[in-house]
Amino acid sequence: MITLGINAAFHDSAAALVRDGALVAASEEERFTRIKHGKRPVPFSACELPFNAIDDCLRQAGVTLAEVDHVAYSYDPQRFIGERLSGGGATLPMNLDAAQDGAWESPWDPLFACYLVNAPRQLADGAPHHLRARFKGVRHDGPFRFHYVDHHLSHQASAFLAAPFERCAVMTLDGRGEEATTAYGRWHDGRYEALGQVDMPHSLGMLYEKITSHLGFLHSSDEYKVMALAALGRPTELDLFLELITVTPDGRYTISEFDPVELFGPARERGTPLGQSHFDLTASLQQALERTVLQLAGVLRETSGERQLAMAGGVALNCVMNARLRDARIFDEVWVQPAAGDAGTALGAALWIDQQERSLVPGVPAARAWTMQHTYWGPGFDDDTIEALLKWAKIRYRTLDDVAAETAQILEQDRIIGWFQGRMEFGPRALGARSILASPLHPEMQARLNELKDREDFRPVAPVIPREDLADWFTPAEANRGEAPFMLFIYDVKPEQALRIPAVCHADHTARVQTVERETNPRYYDTLKAFQARTGVPILVNTSFNVRGEPVVRTPKDALDAFFSTPLDALVIGRFLVEK
Ligand SMILES: [Fe+2]
Repeated sequence: MITLGINAAFHDSAAALVRDGALVAASEEERFTRIKHGKRPVPFSACELPFNAIDDCLRQAGVTLAEVDHVAYSYDPQRFIGERLSGGGATLPMNLDAAQDGAWESPWDPLFACYLVNAPRQLADGAPHHLRARFKGVRHDGPFRFHYVDHHLSHQASAFLAAPFERCAVMTLDGRGEEATTAYGRWHDGRYEALGQVDMPHSLGMLYEKITSHLGFLHSSDEYKVMALAALGRPTELDLFLELITVTPDGRYTISEFDPVELFGPARERGTPLGQSHFDLTASLQQALERTVLQLAGVLRETSGERQLAMAGGVALNCVMNARLRDARIFDEVWVQPAAGDAGTALGAALWIDQQERSLVPGVPAARAWTMQHTYWGPGFDDDTIEALLKWAKIRYRTLDDVAAETAQILEQDRIIGWFQGRMEFGPRALGARSILASPLHPEMQARLNELKDREDFRPVAPVIPREDLADWFTPAEANRGEAPFMLFIYDVKPEQALRIPAVCHADHTARVQTVERETNPRYYDTLKAFQARTGVPILVNTSFNVRGEPVVRTPKDALDAFFSTPLDALVIGRFLVEK
């Protein structure tokens, strides 16, 4: 049974393809169109489906859309429309200031709903010409069956059906779905049980977005910058935030309406200098978020009775908050699905419908066939394809006998490498398939990397380490089975080691660690070991292989474009080395 998951309602458009319970492919549209997040989360873009990502998933599975049994779309327009439509019609405003009579929150909501309801037609008819081959032979009503899946159920399923847990509590936090902004559940004995939700307008995700905008950053995009700035501030405004947020004993919360200018002073203009008051505001917001989520987790631990927690939703990309939750020991283990933002709802919707539909087939167990061990579910390119491009473009290159050893040698010389290997990552983090690698041994490497990526000075860069070496360098090494494969938790750098890896220590002596095991990415792992053999340090800096404002590179050509338009020193692409 083949199920295609699609996320398209807001942003981070993506597709995922599941065959008989196991993920085959997952891709994000931004990697193809080179538009970050695929599109902005506005009503006018809701009709845009991730045709490139869908095409790539079909290609990797070796099928056409006509051979897909189920399509799972990660938003339910009927839940969004609710009681607001009678007679099946809606009126669209024809001028920009149009206000409708109370039924809708925004004058453009009817347009949004109309686009969502027509997603099956758009899927059948809307594929661009150059992709038609895999989209032929379908109509809006099949042969696939089209399912709308509640947005937060999609987030929830992306966590509990991907986590390495037989049973667990589930918490998902994001900006907004149809109504829900936060959802709680429990997964046990192959069944999912919804335990409650928090609805609009109360949203920790939107609170974070509001302050992100107030600080002159792009909301629904730059929240991770706000989190990074929090390390530089003191929580001077924490009480103000805590007054706004009320957590009730049943684990729900409310957030009072407020004007950030009234409460925190004038908004920062984009591009103007950041000062201590901005840092303090971010620190206050971050701490308020952490405290609130710890309270919510405490209630969920009680109501679910479960000892393990799986998380998703855009807020779960906040690796500082995740670490607080890990360290609070409310749950024995905390697992975060790496494509926690809306891209992951394509995965969750597909896994959910696959699980539901398979359980209806006699003799076919609905048990899970898969857990998420890595994120390498995107497109990959073999060495023949890469070499053909290098030759065609008349680029001087060398074939490496021992990729790991030669890469480590270059890194030891403090040269910065573009690293392009295997299938690309699904989710926002580069984790060793489309990465920039560098030595962590000298403090100036952070500034060099930020300069290379043309990004703000305060942005930290992160370390990658073999899993078995974690305890020698970071604490708490034993938590979460001693691994952090998706770079979604910060760790404290051991004080006696901090001076040896200055490039990856954040201002508060923490680091956002990725652990690697040989079986999931042998070449990446071997390079760490080869670097250790040369320097005594089994750690490299890993940051995403992109330039400012652009998504991570996808193809060999993207990699070459980025390599030749930045001060990167070398490119290790498949078995080949290109140098400047
Ligand atoms: Fe979401």
